Amino acid sequence: MPEPGTGVADLRVLLVGSGGREHAMADALSKSPLLDQLLIAPGNAGTAELGENVPVAIGDVPGIVALAQGREVDLVIVGPEAPLADGVADDLHSAGIPVFGPTRSAARIESSKNWAKELMARHAIPTAGFAAFRTIEDSVSYINALPEGSVVVKADGLAAGKGVIIAGTRKEANEAVMKMIGDQLFGDAGSTVVIEECMEGPEVSVFAFVDGATVSNEVSACDYKRAHDGDSGPNTGGMGAYTPPEFWTPELAATIRREILEPVAAGMVAEGADFTGILYAGLMLTESGPRVIEFNCRFGDPEAQVVLARLETDLLEIALATANGELDDVDVHWNDQAAVCVVMASGGYPGSYQTGVPITGLSSTPDGVQVYHAGTSTADDGTVITAGGRVLDVVANGADIAKARGTAYDTVSAINFEGAEYRTDIATRAVGSPTV
Ligand code: AMP
Ligand code: GLY
Repeated sequence: MPEPGTGVADLRVLLVGSGGREHAMADALSKSPLLDQLLIAPGNAGTAELGENVPVAIGDVPGIVALAQGREVDLVIVGPEAPLADGVADDLHSAGIPVFGPTRSAARIESSKNWAKELMARHAIPTAGFAAFRTIEDSVSYINALPEGSVVVKADGLAAGKGVIIAGTRKEANEAVMKMIGDQLFGDAGSTVVIEECMEGPEVSVFAFVDGATVSNEVSACDYKRAHDGDSGPNTGGMGAYTPPEFWTPELAATIRREILEPVAAGMVAEGADFTGILYAGLMLTESGPRVIEFNCRFGDPEAQVVLARLETDLLEIALATANGELDDVDVHWNDQAAVCVVMASGGYPGSYQTGVPITGLSSTPDGVQVYHAGTSTADDGTVITAGGRVLDVVANGADIAKARGTAYDTVSAINFEGAEYRTDIATRAVGSPTV
């Protein structure tokens, strides 16, 4: 941690979150000459090395605001979506504290799939055809009028990435609706369902800093959501990621900017729900061009870990400018390096797993590798122990994906904790191997 008073701008920053994404963000922020002091609420064993962890929970919006006021922070940077959906940015604005992250109204781009779909429809942003319903009867009559085939059923609200069912038949789609509306499988989040046309094609996550209608240079990454090799097993928070995608071209980037990123930012301004922060577009590259699967109002995890490895511009400068409505003045530059992240998880994740397991091999990591902590804590004797499902994110840089991938997996082999699980096929498709 830099000595207080050595920074050029002496900023005191509060970062909200506790995952690998926030450790990577803390790492980038701690390199900034603008930083004086970094607080992380609540943080993990990795962020404790870079700043001061403060035990305020991610869901405790009044606690976050009180912490920011009490410690007189100059900027709050919010990692996860939940406090944004709960209005932490609005409350910080009311307290006169600059915040990097959207208001509750703008966070609806993630927190309400129905609102996001209607926004896309109003602004002609390419996405899957859809309809939203609150009752089983209306859903079923809509589904039964569709041609037989795949259809996607989604809970409208936040469901921790689990609220999506890809139904192969009308019967399966009807069953999904019964579970969501009838059995409240996702609680209140599923009291409205969104029924979508099923799209096909490679998926990509695209990120840009956005302040009102200003959209920074974008960057892209691919993530792996399934637990096991070959894209098998249950969905997880993300088991790995790489950047840049092998299919990424300047032409594709220009199309995505023109047809998706710029219109959505301008559309939100036009509707009085200006977006401030990092916009995450989850896209499918269909035969008829890139189409939106979903938007998120924050960095992806673990995509942040790989894209931040390519960020040449000071993250704190960008975050401050975005919060102050001055993003236009900053030239956001992503370098051409590759980066690969392999997530090491607790045995059993995303089901039940043990915590408190000691981790070894963390002390020496090769050049070009960062080991970000996702679910860790420090035992009383100073040992780093597991404290969550996703435990560590091993991130390697390289001139190309093959080099970065090799270094990441060499490092993974040198780290141990009982029951550790990880995928062995992250980024293989980008180096020409015939796999997912
Ligand atoms: P979401 O939570 O909206 O990101 O959806 C989770 C996953 O479901 C996505 O990463 C896609 O693989 C898939 N998915 C969601 N919507 C669609 C769609 N309309 N067509 C095909 N696949 C979809
Ligand atoms: N990696 C997917 C997400 O952050 O939602």
